[in-house]
Amino acid sequence: MADYDTHDYDVIVIGAGGAGLRAAIESHERGLRTALVCKSLLGKAHTVMAEGGVAAALGNVYPEDNWKVHFRDTMRGGKMLNNWRMAQLHAQESPDRVLELERWGALFDRTKDGRILQRDFGGHRFARLAHVGDRTGLELIRTLQQKAVSAGIDVFMECKILKLLPDAEGRISGAVGYMRPTGDMVLFKAKSFVLATGSIGKSWKYTSNSWESVGDGHAMAIWAGADVIDMECVQFHPTGMVWPLSVRGILVTEGVRGDGGVLRNSEGKRFMFDYVADMFRAETAETEEEADAWYDDHANNRRTPDLLPRDEVARAINSEVKAGRGTPHGGVYLDIASRRPAEYIRRRLPSMYHQFMELAGVDITAGPMEVGPTCHYMMGGVRVDADSAAATVPGLFAAGEVAGGMHGANRLGGNSLSDLIVFGRRAGIGAADFAEGRTGSPSVDAAEVQAVIDEALAPFAREGGDNPYDIQHELQETMQSLVGIIRTGPELEEALVKLEEFKGRVAKLSVKGGKAYNPGWNLATDLPSMVTTSIAVAQGALNRKESRGGHTREDFPGPDAELGKVNFVQRQTAEHGYLAPISINPEPLPEMPAELRALLEEAH
Ligand code: FUM
Repeated sequence: MADYDTHDYDVIVIGAGGAGLRAAIESHERGLRTALVCKSLLGKAHTVMAEGGVAAALGNVYPEDNWKVHFRDTMRGGKMLNNWRMAQLHAQESPDRVLELERWGALFDRTKDGRILQRDFGGHRFARLAHVGDRTGLELIRTLQQKAVSAGIDVFMECKILKLLPDAEGRISGAVGYMRPTGDMVLFKAKSFVLATGSIGKSWKYTSNSWESVGDGHAMAIWAGADVIDMECVQFHPTGMVWPLSVRGILVTEGVRGDGGVLRNSEGKRFMFDYVADMFRAETAETEEEADAWYDDHANNRRTPDLLPRDEVARAINSEVKAGRGTPHGGVYLDIASRRPAEYIRRRLPSMYHQFMELAGVDITAGPMEVGPTCHYMMGGVRVDADSAAATVPGLFAAGEVAGGMHGANRLGGNSLSDLIVFGRRAGIGAADFAEGRTGSPSVDAAEVQAVIDEALAPFAREGGDNPYDIQHELQETMQSLVGIIRTGPELEEALVKLEEFKGRVAKLSVKGGKAYNPGWNLATDLPSMVTTSIAVAQGALNRKESRGGHTREDFPGPDAELGKVNFVQRQTAEHGYLAPISINPEPLPEMPAELRALLEEAH
């Protein structure tokens, strides 16, 4: 008699953020027996931290906006490493998905004539982000959750999935995990699985990511033999809190700059003007005065260099701090108080107002915030077919941050929430199609299930191993200092040596106490994912000998035209699993059709 519960479905969705909820809704509406499995409580997914808005070319504020401009912005923002088909589908379908959210009850801020209001964000040519103050992710989750729960979709909350298992024919057919409140083991069997597990940011010391973001989905896909791409492309959001230290990294929404905030160094200078690329300068203002005049004439500031794409702003902040022009706590100033009335700031940015007041004792309507780059988003991830979201192993699908390709080397703000709903829906359809085409009941090898359980429980019986918190601390220090915003070959090599050492130590951890809500043990089961994904990032970063988007190599400071034509693809070939090596190879980007290429070549 097995000492675990077994649940049988057609489709299992792992992760209940925006992508997971949207996938489950789609598969359920197709009549398939669908369940959502999530590590946190339903409604608490990291999606709530995407604050400023959801990008969609609705054309409500600028009628000249359309999917083609959004596609072009996205490809340019991603420094052309994006999967063109994903960027196309995303730009074409996001308006419908946003309007669908509205039909399902999302209460967006309105234009004066009652349409969905759209705000400016970096890299978007037009004000394009539908938003709910600075709580857009929360509204998106609330809406999708209500839809999913009222539809009667089964939800398994506080359940950590450890490993995906194939059937005898190699189709993913099982997922083994445990319930966090009890530590009881569980097996989910299904005809198809959707990964919607989000990010990997908790492997860095300063991150906007929540505790769930340990790379579970990325790692489980690798261990299952799936391809991942462009893992070196990690986004550092320019504006996280830097003080007090206890809250360092928490997101300060780009909506602050979208609504008029500007960056200044310790000398009070708007330093972003010093970093404006020639191309940007040529099409906008020549001087700070000119830009300010333009700004004052318009109801937005989308053309100020404060709203350049995130990679560029984050690097500029980093340079200011390095040059000794930072704030006392190692950031720069973000000033909206001198640019906007207090009532406007409180109405448009209520969470930012409260966040700074409560956590830092700073009134952002009266003075500047201290901000600096924070690890925010993973552009790399599971290689998927753009139309179906299918991974490269049968029965596995991926959507949202765990999937790679959509954002290339740098994501534009606001393109994450739209990605979740566009590709969440597509993954739900893909997984439903696959499940419908599969005959018989999914089966997995009981011995393999038992091996996963034994490995997860082994730290309780082991004496003398490392404490999981020590390794977590060392791993975060390593990733922050050696695989951070600016990278070099020797540092990446040093990181890989350390990561290999962590890999061995994680396989021999010890934990104490019982299985019920045991944070030490929970962390022990997170660490294999953290180590695997960190190795993949460092390997990718070492191999991509150029600077592109979120990946900056001090020793290769510019882009390389040849490397701009390839994805770095990582996979486990001969052996699979935590201890197995991961190979890395460049592979050509999918060929873009001529009509889309022509769009990119059109002048702004
Ligand atoms: O700055 C923000 O509000 C974050 C949004 C995003 O990452 O899309």
